[in-house]
Amino acid sequence: MSKKKIIITGGAGFIGSHVIRRFVNNYPDYNIINLDKLTYAGNLENLRDVEKKSNYSFVKGDITDREFILSFIEKEQPDGIIHLAAESHVDRSIRNPMEFLLTNIVGTVNLLDAVRETWKDNFDGKLFYHISTDEVYGSLGDTGFFLEDTPYDPQSPYSASKASSDHFVRAYRNTFGLPVVISNCSNNYGPNQFPEKLLPLMINNIRSSKPLPIYGKGENIRDWLYVEDHASAIDVIYHQGKTGDTYNIGGDNEWKNIDLVKLLCEIMDQKLKRLSGTAEKLITYVTDRAGHDMRYAIDASKLKNELNWSPSLTFEVGLEKTVDWYMANEEWLENVTSGQYKKYYDAYYSS
Ligand code: NAD
Ligand code: DAU
Repeated sequence: MSKKKIIITGGAGFIGSHVIRRFVNNYPDYNIINLDKLTYAGNLENLRDVEKKSNYSFVKGDITDREFILSFIEKEQPDGIIHLAAESHVDRSIRNPMEFLLTNIVGTVNLLDAVRETWKDNFDGKLFYHISTDEVYGSLGDTGFFLEDTPYDPQSPYSASKASSDHFVRAYRNTFGLPVVISNCSNNYGPNQFPEKLLPLMINNIRSSKPLPIYGKGENIRDWLYVEDHASAIDVIYHQGKTGDTYNIGGDNEWKNIDLVKLLCEIMDQKLKRLSGTAEKLITYVTDRAGHDMRYAIDASKLKNELNWSPSLTFEVGLEKTVDWYMANEEWLENVTSGQYKKYYDAYYSS
């Protein structure tokens, strides 16, 4: 196996930590560098089990700091970049679009320029892999699926920033010949997700008997994928994806928000040995998210047919594993919502 140096950005975050763990454990000959600014969403606790491995190292750094990024990439001479670092929460993007523009667009272009300068025109064995979202395609009606050639139609500041970064990545391929690949994934769930996103927020609130805020009527639909299955798709695409191509990743697993939260309530009542119906009483309908996309659904058949990927877990198993993880890691939940992180959590979810 050839020795490869890969910089994974955003590796201390939710998805990034699972990608790091997979690459560090599965590829002992690779040199995996985690580049992360450690915002409220990045937490090195997520990587305790791999941090001492000899093929792993961590560098604290900000992708919006152009001088730093140019010199860091030049110094490290990586073979590959797997770029996950981003501001990722739609609600925060509605409050502060500029932060999303800077991190998601400017940060991505800094990385593209840095690899272009470092790799010069010698792209042999090199790859810039950009991790993106299904939200760039906009919102679906009752039927249909997002395909790789679905026209972009982003609706939130978050998805507009991700769409823009995708366009820059393709532009660098078209203009400079940079070897790139992009994947657009549906909603992830699982361990290590900051409790601002639907599932960990609801789990955290049920645990402490706080209201469960459902936006609007709760009829919006998302397609859920277990985070380790996203990491396995990223592994397959990094190694076997066709340079210049895009791959959609999804769980073929659509749920209305309200149905999902009710199912979670049942599971949590059982786990917490509370009377059935206890958690459901906490459901509170609140003002809808501005511009709330109605439905996302991914057609992942290209990835399945061309690269033989499919999710390994059923939703039943994945959801149970997820609930069990948060219940067994209450200290993690306390840590990420207290101390220096408290203000990031309280700004939205302290009610
Ligand atoms: P996250 O918010 O949990 O983690 C983001 C990570 O990026 C954090 O570790 C943070 O510290 C780091 N980061 C943020 N700004 C940075 C900067 N300026 N410089 C360096 N590091 C910085 O996000 P996530 O949910 O793990 O998402 C990871 C990627 O996957 C994002 O690009 C997101 O758009 C994409 N994505 C997420 C989902 C999902 O359901 N969560 C689905 C599809 C795609
Ligand atoms: O589709 C992929 C995207 O999924 C990723 O690109 C984003 O990074 C990720 O955050 C996620 O975006 P969503 O906006 O779909 O996820 P979120 O968990 O914020 O919300 C899921 C659904 O639940 C959405 O319809 C809004 C609703 N919701 C969310 C919260 C936090 C509620 O009803 N109440 C809540 O408190």
